[in-house]
Amino acid sequence: MWDQSGFMLRGDADDPLTNSKWGAQGWCRPSCIPITVILILIVLVVLLPLLDHAGDKHSSNSTFGNDPGSTCMDSCKINLVESIPIGLVYANNSVQHRSTYDSWMELIASAQSSIEIAALYWTMRRQDVYPDDSAKEGEDVFEALLEAGRDRGLRLRFAQNVPSQLTPNDDTEYLAKKANAQVRSLDFPRLLGAGVLHTKLWIIDRTHIYVGSANMDWRSLTQVKELGLVAINCSCLANDIAKIFDVYWKISEDGKIPAVWPDSLATKTNVSNPMNFTLGGNKYKAFIASSPPPMSPRGRTNDLDAILHCIDKAEKFIYISVMDFFPLTIYTPKTKYWPIIDDALRSAAIEHKVHVKLLISWWKHSLPSADYFLKSLAVLTKSYRNVKIEAKRFIVPTNPILDKIPYIRVNHNKYMVTDSVAYIGTSNWSGDYFISTAGIGMVFEDVGNKNEESIRQQLEEIFHRDWNSQYAHPLNETYVDR
Ligand SMILES: *[C@@H]1O[C@H](CO)[C@@H](O)[C@H](O)[C@H]1NC(C)=O
Ligand SMILES: *[C@@H]1O[C@H](CO)[C@@H](O)[C@H](O)[C@H]1NC(C)=O
Ligand SMILES: *[C@@H]1O[C@H](CO)[C@@H](O)[C@H](O)[C@H]1NC(C)=O
Ligand SMILES: *[C@@H]1O[C@H](CO)[C@@H](O)[C@H](O)[C@H]1NC(C)=O
Ligand SMILES: *[C@@H]1O[C@H](CO)[C@@H](O)[C@H](O)[C@H]1NC(C)=O
Ligand SMILES: *[C@@H]1O[C@H](CO)[C@@H](O)[C@H](O)[C@H]1NC(C)=O
Repeated sequence: MWDQSGFMLRGDADDPLTNSKWGAQGWCRPSCIPITVILILIVLVVLLPLLDHAGDKHSSNSTFGNDPGSTCMDSCKINLVESIPIGLVYANNSVQHRSTYDSWMELIASAQSSIEIAALYWTMRRQDVYPDDSAKEGEDVFEALLEAGRDRGLRLRFAQNVPSQLTPNDDTEYLAKKANAQVRSLDFPRLLGAGVLHTKLWIIDRTHIYVGSANMDWRSLTQVKELGLVAINCSCLANDIAKIFDVYWKISEDGKIPAVWPDSLATKTNVSNPMNFTLGGNKYKAFIASSPPPMSPRGRTNDLDAILHCIDKAEKFIYISVMDFFPLTIYTPKTKYWPIIDDALRSAAIEHKVHVKLLISWWKHSLPSADYFLKSLAVLTKSYRNVKIEAKRFIVPTNPILDKIPYIRVNHNKYMVTDSVAYIGTSNWSGDYFISTAGIGMVFEDVGNKNEESIRQQLEEIFHRDWNSQYAHPLNETYVDR
């Protein structure tokens, strides 16, 4: 494929060796023998490295920064996983994915040496929050982790945000005592002046991973709508993302961000040098981005740059499903205007006629100002031919009994899908998350356009399911009357 065939086609037409006029009709003058020899040499010098490369390509479909032609992704399987809150029902035959709960239980069961988790806080048991039977799944996961450390002797390492009333750590304290877990915490106000560890990341044996919106919280398994990605047997992906875990681990040990990051934490793959691999017949380019910038060692793409890259690359559509969207920093002492993503969406819609859809969550804790910013985007629709920006609010239905459980019944998803990429992240889209808060974004780009059931395609189907469901409401509705 690529240049090689192009070169050979072009070569064929002028190539003295294959030209039928050559030699046979006696055109060869005395000078033609040395010329022939030189031409043959040139052809060999140019062709041999290409053929050699073609050999490499055949021996493996994958290329990675540290390990070209390696087999580290050959048995890799990547699946989207979701938590669909109890009582949220889609039409029959809607797309359905494996549950976060099942995939977490499977990840723990498959572990042979280590389980590493980065999370904001831990509330996996009903006693941590509220006595409701829907805590059962969370308690199962907690038990399985306890067993993994205590009975199976697996190495447990947990990086969490510094504990507070809002981000408690009773569970990890228990696992440290009973299951020999190593637990470290990150204090962002001390490290950076603001922010939290907002990442939600699991790494099993440095081979399997989970990244997504689900917290280490039983409510994330049964009462909050979550989306994530599980990669099984994908050691290249896992090793790259483990470098982000190692960054948290190092910072939490040192108590500060190092002036110079060790080379071992640098990555060779990023937005300009993505990993290349084939899964289930689909070809991908992928990279893993991180925020905030001060926590990115050499080579790592910042999460914000990953998002802007995906927006800029879109040619037809950009569908965004994030819990919160504000062109502001809302956690700074003074609210600041922060239009970076907002501007990129406006450019995409106006300059490239990309159709933008924003599916933003609404729950009783939502800030009312969000609607104004969403409307200011949507109002551009039809300002010029083919400019189209739409926004809706996704509302998870609730009732007075469920409302007794704090902080549930919300769409917590954080992803974007365009005509070429799937982006799965852990951050809300407001400035704070990209300036001082730790998060991860994974980008999977379809290579070629015949990708059926690629990760991107599956994510697009999830978006359509939600956008067209009865739970997606136009702006301007009175959301309180659900
Ligand atoms: C490369 O991918 C193709 C399918 O796309 C597969 O049949 C083949 O086995 C893969 N080669 C290797 C070495 O994994
Ligand atoms: C993946 O392929 C692209 C070309 O499509 C190349 O620029 C990039 O360097 C490759 N990545 C790796 C890690 O080899
Ligand atoms: C789905 O189908 C089942 C029976 O086949 C039916 O009981 C149920 O009401 C349907 N659900 C929806 C949301 O249409
Ligand atoms: C992962 O790889 C191991 C060993 O190669 C294999 O036994 C296992 O079935 C694989 N898991 C999946 C889900 O493919
Ligand atoms: C991306 O990776 C390539 C190859 O490892 C490196 O040369 C480049 O500097 C990296 N880009 C960034 C923004 O760090
Ligand atoms: C963003 O997401 C978190 C949970 O991931 C949520 O609790 C928070 O309220 C969200 N909104 C804002 C504006 O930070």
